[in-house]
Amino acid sequence: MSAVNTKIVVAIDGPAGAGKSTVAKILAEKLHCTYIDTGAMYRAVAFEILEKSKNPTEDEIEIQAQKILEDFQIDLKFENGMTRVFVNGRDISEEIRTPRVSQLVPYVASIDFVREKLVDLQRKMSRNQSVVLDGRDIGTVVLPDANVKIFLTASIEERARRRFEELKSKGIESVDLETLQREIAARDRADIERKISPLRQAPDAIRIDSTNDRIDQVVAMILEQCELIR
Ligand code: DC
Repeated sequence: MSAVNTKIVVAIDGPAGAGKSTVAKILAEKLHCTYIDTGAMYRAVAFEILEKSKNPTEDEIEIQAQKILEDFQIDLKFENGMTRVFVNGRDISEEIRTPRVSQLVPYVASIDFVREKLVDLQRKMSRNQSVVLDGRDIGTVVLPDANVKIFLTASIEERARRRFEELKSKGIESVDLETLQREIAARDRADIERKISPLRQAPDAIRIDSTNDRIDQVVAMILEQCELIR
């Protein structure tokens, strides 16, 4: 399948740990289009705040965010199935995945001017090319006219189990399943209860519950939807 003739925009929203980024990367490769990891953009802002202030108060977070966004050049380079994140030319791909950034980012993602700026950038990045984006508000706010809208979810138990396996494969065995379930439930609450652009399924999005599906089955379902619009 080639994205040369028809511009295609695939929006994938859903809660943390549902497999969005894995699915989005495979789709982007298969459709020959760019993958935009919008969560990485919020993480990049959170990381930059921590660079300026190790233990910021709520006020400091907002002040630093404002300063950072005045001169914020972010590039997402999607190559060989991997996204690398550059801010003002510096590669911070690994740094944005640390637990400190994960802890701060839900707060940063709830600040109105941060969302405004990043949504604007996401729209610009999607303007002249075929794209697959994943996030929480792509189909509802960022690109409500996307050709294909997916709401990808899975049970909390299954998402925790997948995270557990992922950590185990990295040699991290100190975390138990119950703790992971609690963490995922807390992240869901932060996403759903946020005042601005909370996580919602767009009315015209296709809901895929991947609790009992493999990644390749989910990818096949979404590709079928992409075929329909070509
Ligand atoms: O998907 P992730 O864990 O990398 O997302 C990081 C944070 O950013 C998480 O708190 C949810 C938030 N986010 C958001 O509010 N809107 C998006 N489009 C993407 C992520």
